[in-house]
Amino acid sequence: MTWPLRLRPIAFGGDYSPEQWPSDVQIEDVDLMKQAGVTAVTLGVFTWALLEPSEGTYTFDWLDEIMDRMAAAGIAVDLATPSANPPAWLSTAHPQILPIDRDGRVLGIGSREAFCPSSPIYRSAAVSLARRLAQRYADHPALALWHVGNEFGAHVDGCYCPTSERAFRAWLLARYGGLDRLNDAWGTTFWGQRYHAWNEITVPRRAPMPVNPAQQLDFMRFTNDEFLACYRAERDALQEHAPGVPVTTNFMAPTCRHIDYWAWAGEVDVVSNDHYLTAEDTDNHVELALSADLSRSLARGGSWVLMEHSTSAVNWQPRNIAKAPGEMRRNSLTHLARGADAVMFFQWRASRFGAEKFHSAMVPQGGTDTRTWREVCELGAQIGLLAEVAGSQVRADVGVVWDWQSWWALEMEYRPSVDVTYLDAVRRTYATLWRAHRTIEFVRPGDIPAHLPLLVVPSLYLCAPETAVALRKYVENGGILLVGFFSGIVDESETVHAGPFPGALRELLGLTIEEFHPLRHGEDVPLSPGHQAGVWSECVVPRSAEVIWTFDGGPDAGSPALTRNTVGRGQAWYLATRPDDAGLAALLDIVAAQAGLPRPLDVAGDVEVVRRVSPEADYLFVINHGVEAAVIPGSGLDLLTGTHHQEAVEVPAGGVAIVREDSHPPQLTQEDAP
Ligand code: GLA
Repeated sequence: MTWPLRLRPIAFGGDYSPEQWPSDVQIEDVDLMKQAGVTAVTLGVFTWALLEPSEGTYTFDWLDEIMDRMAAAGIAVDLATPSANPPAWLSTAHPQILPIDRDGRVLGIGSREAFCPSSPIYRSAAVSLARRLAQRYADHPALALWHVGNEFGAHVDGCYCPTSERAFRAWLLARYGGLDRLNDAWGTTFWGQRYHAWNEITVPRRAPMPVNPAQQLDFMRFTNDEFLACYRAERDALQEHAPGVPVTTNFMAPTCRHIDYWAWAGEVDVVSNDHYLTAEDTDNHVELALSADLSRSLARGGSWVLMEHSTSAVNWQPRNIAKAPGEMRRNSLTHLARGADAVMFFQWRASRFGAEKFHSAMVPQGGTDTRTWREVCELGAQIGLLAEVAGSQVRADVGVVWDWQSWWALEMEYRPSVDVTYLDAVRRTYATLWRAHRTIEFVRPGDIPAHLPLLVVPSLYLCAPETAVALRKYVENGGILLVGFFSGIVDESETVHAGPFPGALRELLGLTIEEFHPLRHGEDVPLSPGHQAGVWSECVVPRSAEVIWTFDGGPDAGSPALTRNTVGRGQAWYLATRPDDAGLAALLDIVAAQAGLPRPLDVAGDVEVVRRVSPEADYLFVINHGVEAAVIPGSGLDLLTGTHHQEAVEVPAGGVAIVREDSHPPQLTQEDAP
């Protein structure tokens, strides 16, 4: 990863669309940006039709002017290639570039993102404009970073057009080498689906009953790869003509289900992510923290760019609730606490027309005599005080396995229960650890870091044999592993691992599962230590594992609900149900203690505590989401207020403290506890 020098130390700004405004407003923008402490903007995201009004005709003069103005103002530019919205002339001349959905409907223009990722016409036109941009702006003093397209795959989760179908067949040929292997992998003896010629194979259009799950899974992989190929083609052109300028594209982790960002992370010079709160969720700051931790994990622990978030309401949720006073600041500084070294918004100035006019902005419709503007200026000034934090790294203590492909596979048709969903499993685990003030690093299956003493696998329905081997190695070397139910079931081809469930993880967990007993909607079953559980029950037969909790009722009364298997120097725990919040919290405390983690901090659950560390200093971030003041042990210089805290950091309700600590706090372990 290469951090863009011109974004140093910590960038602050947003998506800027000067093309929507007359020149007097554009001039005013620069003054206002300086007032707000803006150091970077993203330019040009949806400007293809303006930069290339007809094929091969370019009008760069307006962009030259803006780029020069930004350079003169000392504002760095994250320059987008405008490929997220092909111009009308392109689809008029070549309607075959338009995407077709699963039901065979052509998605039209007049909006954005109407392109088929496999279309050679689209790709070559996008690359050609990217090349022109690179040739023109490679040495421009404002250019900090390239931003390829926008949120690839955000609103088209697969294209079912004839071009895609041909590309899918070619992709399958490369994956399987021949039809026999494809037939084996897809299990086409089932329902007599055997293929005898390549032209019989189709994209998984809507069919009378569920399409072969292995075929669906491969189509998701293919779609991911096709969007990635679009990104790569533009990136390569940019790198060829503007060597040394870092390239990114904005991710939507974790909300975009159909893009496997683990596969993308190694393709960008710097990870950037967009995050929007689910406005109605009163605990939405927890999901925000999850998104930030996932972004940092994709960046392999390094700094990342928060490319978009909102100053207040968005425009696309059922109820677009505005942020409360101080909420934007907490949101922004939480991202920063979790490794973002750039805090950017969608958008600089609210549009007066178009579909997003009710979306908040740094300069809202009400202008500068507004709370939003005052909060933006205050935040910009505060980010200016945090320069020394740039480049420091977040200290995580618990690993959580995150896998897009398992998510895809889990949520196809005909599973044991519709109540078993991927995000439910991961979000509950994350939220429980968050409330215990643990800091999470997300882990790619099969790439398990040895340094984390505790690894939780909330859900891993699809588990490749290599993943099982990596998990085993982790445990043998002393790791404490906790695996959630309905994991280890199928391989990459959606084929059940041979033998009793949980196939791939059977030996490691030391148990077999005789039958799944999903519960009725709303049904609860008691567990032996006094907790309740819902959604799932199953008949676990311990082999080498010891039983820690049992079901006290329901279809599996008397059989194990929680087990522990000792393997090598570590332990593999298995949870056969979905305990209530208190039960999950108790369990995570138990395994954390087994892993020798410090006891959870004794502060309220809605106070967020994170550390970023550098060779020079430790920075303690305390973000108080609660309604009462919080007091955290610690001493040091508060970078936002200049106060020196002695022994305790007091943070008012809704406030944030960022403290350069005088020393490292004592690491209290469970064994040291009285
Ligand atoms: C996305 C896009 C932006 C804008 C915002 C609105 O993240 O990248 O262009 O549409 O959503 O929230």
